[in-house]
Amino acid sequence: MSEPVDLLVIGLGYVGLPLAREAVQAGLSVRGFDVSPRVVRGLNAGTSHIDGVSDEDIAQLRAAGFTATCDEDNFGAPRAVVVCVPTPLDDVGQPDLSKVIGATGMVGRRLRRGMLVVLESTTFPGTTDNIVRPILEESGLRAGEDFGLAFSPERIDPGNGEYGVRNTPKIVGGYTSGCTRRAMEFYSRFVVKVVAAKSTREAEMAKILENTYRQVNIALVNEMAMLSHELGVDLWNAIDCATTKPFGFAPFQPGPGVGGHCIPIDPLYLSYQARMLGWRSQLIDLAQEINDSMPRYVVERAARMLLRHGAELTDSRVLVLGVTYKADISDQRESPADDVVRHLRTHGADVTYHDPYVGHWAVDDVAVPYADDLDAALRTADLTVVLQWHSPYREHVDGSRTRMLFDTRGWLADRDVAVL
Ligand SMILES: NC(=O)c1ccc[n+]([C@@H]2O[C@H](COP(=O)([O-])OP(=O)(O)OC[C@H]3O[C@@H](n4cnc5c(N)ncnc54)[C@H](O)[C@@H]3O)[C@@H](O)[C@H]2O)c1
Repeated sequence: MSEPVDLLVIGLGYVGLPLAREAVQAGLSVRGFDVSPRVVRGLNAGTSHIDGVSDEDIAQLRAAGFTATCDEDNFGAPRAVVVCVPTPLDDVGQPDLSKVIGATGMVGRRLRRGMLVVLESTTFPGTTDNIVRPILEESGLRAGEDFGLAFSPERIDPGNGEYGVRNTPKIVGGYTSGCTRRAMEFYSRFVVKVVAAKSTREAEMAKILENTYRQVNIALVNEMAMLSHELGVDLWNAIDCATTKPFGFAPFQPGPGVGGHCIPIDPLYLSYQARMLGWRSQLIDLAQEINDSMPRYVVERAARMLLRHGAELTDSRVLVLGVTYKADISDQRESPADDVVRHLRTHGADVTYHDPYVGHWAVDDVAVPYADDLDAALRTADLTVVLQWHSPYREHVDGSRTRMLFDTRGWLADRDVAVL
């Protein structure tokens, strides 16, 4: 495994694996490293664990010479290393950069003159320069002189069939202008458009800005949804009307809360950094508060619906449909469905769920029973709450098949169904 390869991808998840696939398809020689033996075993056996990357894709990767490893000794001699490890929050809700630090330490121990190192993990401005660079320079080599260093945010949208790694413009910010040039040349081999940022910091900020923009605007429509309900206004129709404006308005949809690895987490990296400076990022904090309140609001609305029919949540049979964080993918990270079930349980509801992508689901280590027979479950539940309109539901679930239906995503907003 010591022959030189064009690229070593560190962290073979939702970001790293599609990157590896794209690079291989463009003719680069690629190797992958991941700390998870399960991930590595699966990939080397031809099995994908990521939505949007099929087993056939893995077979093609393998046929092109791609191998995955969790053995640091198999690091080899890559010309470029791209780090795509998770950047979660820790137990007290603060940025947890331990995986970035761990992966960077490994790269530092194997760093060679001429290598290009790129961080793709989402993080606050300054991480590449203040945290990653010093670790790499412990090798005795200097960034910008002996090796290239850059940050390039990943903008992958799991489940998006139109935009992937290749046709989504790639932002690149280098530690020096030479590093930027080098990283741009590298990505240009498999990405159609590469955009230069002024430095690593602007590239880091661009990603957090994009996600904070979504977080804040989702909070805005969530607040509008709660207010519109009180006012007897159909917000979904109002959004459709506002969207006809050809300039100055971008539509966002309300929902039962935000999920996934990005929107609920990335803005908090920035608000943490603001706090460290003795400053408060008020809008981010408020947006988080509003989005976090949505599962409770959904359950309050559900309780009111039942009450209008003389029933209470306690002992009511509630069927929850779609528990992933977005439609038609299996990723459950940070899904608001967990909080919805917590609140339903607190009220004593008898909860079951259905999701074509999730065969087993536990909240707080207590399994949520699966409704094997969807039609029977729709018929017998006192209330069905749709959290995610996976495509199989779209032609199948409507008010006529249920006793009571609550659509938290507005798919049925133009029908006689309760919507958020
Ligand atoms: N998922 C998305 O939609 C998305 C989009 C844009 C950016 N990002 C960002 O990209 C980064 C990676 O996210 P992801 O969704 O791919 O995560 P993921 O959990 O799907 O995959 C990360 C992989 O890294 C591995 N890993 C953890 N620590 C490691 C280490 N020290 N060395 C090597 N491998 C290690 C894990 O085993 C896992 O397989 C995060 O910073 C995330 O915020 C994610």
